[in-house]
Amino acid sequence: MSLSKWVRRIGKPVIFAACLVPVSLIVADIFQGRLGANPIEEITHRTGDWTLIFLLVTLGVSPLRRLTGWGVVVQFRRMLGLFAFSYGLVHFSIYVVFDHFFDLAAILEDIVKRPYVTVGFTSLMLLVPLAITSTKGWVKRLGGRRWNRLHQLVYVSAAGGVLHYLWLVKADTRRPIVFGLVLVALLATRLWRPGKRGRRAEAVVRDAKASLG
Ligand code: HEM
Repeated sequence: MSLSKWVRRIGKPVIFAACLVPVSLIVADIFQGRLGANPIEEITHRTGDWTLIFLLVTLGVSPLRRLTGWGVVVQFRRMLGLFAFSYGLVHFSIYVVFDHFFDLAAILEDIVKRPYVTVGFTSLMLLVPLAITSTKGWVKRLGGRRWNRLHQLVYVSAAGGVLHYLWLVKADTRRPIVFGLVLVALLATRLWRPGKRGRRAEAVVRDAKASLG
């Protein structure tokens, strides 16, 4: 089987199913009453966690490719990013429906007055243009450079997600700090550019791969 067929027939469906595991566990726990005394709060927390985890995993794709030379991982990036956005939408919907019962005025007031909500909302809104322009058609329409520049907003969104988390925890800041450190590490890999020798080594690997077809 060719690599592209393998990606389409096996790789993508497996990753897709794996991405549905967190939401399936939440649904299973709802039906089995395993969400504790405050199920809404528990769902908000879990979906918030997964939004951030998916954002960081999406940001990890390019460093993983650079580190291992596995070009194929890039083919899963769009799906992972769209899952980050989807978990974010579920997280936000729980807040709109169960925390505020669709009270638009109260939601707007919350967004304006509570800094952690302001930052969370901004982070989610930043993902909207990225989700819309994630198709091949939009890459062509915008051109690679402009598309790349636009999609750098994902860093701002992830940083906002970490700040949102840091701001909302009352005492134990360990988890948001761990998320923050992972984000900083992922950003640091972007700043690192191989020197002349590294670039030459990368070119050799690229040429070797090209000659293997
Ligand atoms: C990219 C967007 C977002 C990310 C990455 C994110 C992430 C998170 C995380 C990690 C948590 C804490 C989970 C835990 O305690 O284990 C959380 C909680 C929460 N988020 Fe978000 N969030 C986002 C957007 C939003 C939006 C748009 C809203 C509402 C306007 C929102 C409202 C909340 C609320 C109400 C909580 C629970 C606060 C508490 O119980 O004290 N989030 N979010």
